[in-house]
Amino acid sequence: MIAPAAVHETLRRHQLTDGFPIVMDLEKSHGSWIHDARTGEEYLDFFTCFASWPIGYNHPGTLDPAFREEIELTGRNKPANSDLYTTHMASFVETFAEHVTPAGFEHHFWIDGGALAVENALKVAFDWKAHKMGVENCEDGNALVVMHFRQAFHGRSGYTMSITNTVHDKVALFPKFPWPRVHNPAIVFDLDGGIANDIEAEEAKACAEIEGAFECYAGRVAAIIIETMQGEGGDNHFRPEFLAKLRGYADQHEALLVFDEVQTGFFGSGTPWLWEQKGVAPDVVAFGKKSQVCGLYAGPRVDEVPENVFVRSSRINSTWGANLVDMVRSRRFIEIIVEERLHENVAARGEQLVQGLRELARDRGGISNVRGVGSLAAFTCASPAARDHLLKLLVERKLMVLASGPQSIRFRMPLVVQEDEIKLALDRIAAALPEVVGA
Ligand SMILES: Cc1ncc(COP(=O)(O)O)c(C=O)c1O
Repeated sequence: MIAPAAVHETLRRHQLTDGFPIVMDLEKSHGSWIHDARTGEEYLDFFTCFASWPIGYNHPGTLDPAFREEIELTGRNKPANSDLYTTHMASFVETFAEHVTPAGFEHHFWIDGGALAVENALKVAFDWKAHKMGVENCEDGNALVVMHFRQAFHGRSGYTMSITNTVHDKVALFPKFPWPRVHNPAIVFDLDGGIANDIEAEEAKACAEIEGAFECYAGRVAAIIIETMQGEGGDNHFRPEFLAKLRGYADQHEALLVFDEVQTGFFGSGTPWLWEQKGVAPDVVAFGKKSQVCGLYAGPRVDEVPENVFVRSSRINSTWGANLVDMVRSRRFIEIIVEERLHENVAARGEQLVQGLRELARDRGGISNVRGVGSLAAFTCASPAARDHLLKLLVERKLMVLASGPQSIRFRMPLVVQEDEIKLALDRIAAALPEVVGA
């Protein structure tokens, strides 16, 4: 085995190694804490592997012998789940459908990776719309289009590259489809949690652009896709009223409404899905990250086309059909979350963090627009430079967090996070703030 001190150097010889300077000890990391194998120091993990690790490290429920045996067995053998079925897969699908999928969504599809989950959600919509239009062959990249939002991040695969538009470097040099991109009417929060900007004007601007795009691409919009809360683009929250408008446009123009919950889904918001708190139901939801297995679920509107992708073989598919080890782990995670009501824990802890950050903003200044729900929280710094500096200071103080948008910091907590860990995080932020106020 390679020594911890040699990990970065070994990797550097073969690949880009610009990640964290620590080496994670998988055995010794626990709960909300990542143990650095090089120094023995522990980092408070409010980054959770880009919002993908839901229940902390080495949760006692994952040490259960039956689970360990199943993980070992499925680790030794990797069936192509798309066509070769196992009891392990059936248990996972049943548990997911019972505890995670909202009522009324009968269709599921599983694949590796959030971008491919979104990509296949778009393919569901293209197939549906092409059938509706009576088109047999979509040769032209503009025959069907996807309406999407500014500051959206949906991944870096073929189709998703055309709708992701956060950081220039991530998309600039790759060919894309010129699909309609519209204004994202994000809420700016005051320090009491009220709305500080003219949100109705913001939404009116978005609606005018949406209506213009429907006119310009008449009959060709297969889907409207939106992150229920934009993550990488800046933790941008939308009002339920706006999502309801999107629902109306999708119905009126015969497009599918797709929510990307890759970052917000699987209990991270305090409920299985963030959209459930908004009271606006989509037609298709793409998920990934915390669910371990990525994929999508779809509701009855898809059945308006009898030969849809969930009926007709091979329209959407992949060799592995996701990964069986991930399915076994996901099933166990669902059992643990439901048994320990971890989504309720993180809803309360998220509230504690947001309140604490608002107090810090009031008392110390330097940060504003504190926002969040459940494990997903953020604030905005005075400038991009101040944000980058604060990010560095927080990692130095062993609090792992993430950048978000041009000048925000986001927190992605594990669902098991404890009250004293939130206090500790707030203390570390308070200690770092004086160095960036006024920067
Ligand atoms: C909202 C959203 N969609 C899609 C993706 C892409 O997921 P992946 O990186 O697993 O391909 C991400 C990743 O950050 C995301 O936040």
